[in-house]
Amino acid sequence: MRDVHLIDHPLVQHKLTLMRRKDASTNSFRRLLNELAMLMTYEVTRDMPLHEVDIETPLEPMKARAIDGKKLVFVSILRAGTGILDGMLGVVPGARVGHIGLYRDPKTLGAVEYFFKMPHGMSERDVIVVDPMLATGNSAIAAVDRIKELRPRSIKFVCQLTCPEGLRAFHDVHPDVAVFTAAIDRQLNDHGYILPGLGDAGDRMFGTK
Ligand code: URA
Repeated sequence: MRDVHLIDHPLVQHKLTLMRRKDASTNSFRRLLNELAMLMTYEVTRDMPLHEVDIETPLEPMKARAIDGKKLVFVSILRAGTGILDGMLGVVPGARVGHIGLYRDPKTLGAVEYFFKMPHGMSERDVIVVDPMLATGNSAIAAVDRIKELRPRSIKFVCQLTCPEGLRAFHDVHPDVAVFTAAIDRQLNDHGYILPGLGDAGDRMFGTK
């Protein structure tokens, strides 16, 4: 297995199980995705650099450690990435945000870009790309291809769920990008859905089906 981080914390696994259930309401699916994203951010940002700042406690001045959240960019793959983004911003509110709009061609399952907007100065930023499902890998590959054109300092990819086919396809093209996930499911079906999976993440979080 290449650079894959399976986040097996019991809270993460518990919330993922609740989300997978077909009777989870739109409301609870969205809330759980948000909570899961917050918990995963804790692990994904573990190696973030810290710098010293001068502060005063009620008793005396001290040098304390702080992160520079503005150097971090969360890039959401529309539309399902939005559900993760809110949770991550809850933990790192100073992060910048980029969006990339991709849809899946239903026949080829290939990714087609319709929107791309990133913050300025990407060459000095660390990017975390988010999409709940890394399935065929096509959207993830296309998104990272485009982001690499801007030469950010680093790129990580975060999803709730993936499968061996998607991981293999993604790392064949982008072996340098670490993937953080809460589960690696059994397989893809012929329509590019993950099994056992959780269905269509976008439809489930927005109630569009
Ligand atoms: N996208 C989804 O929302 N679900 C899958 O199973 C695969 C891709």
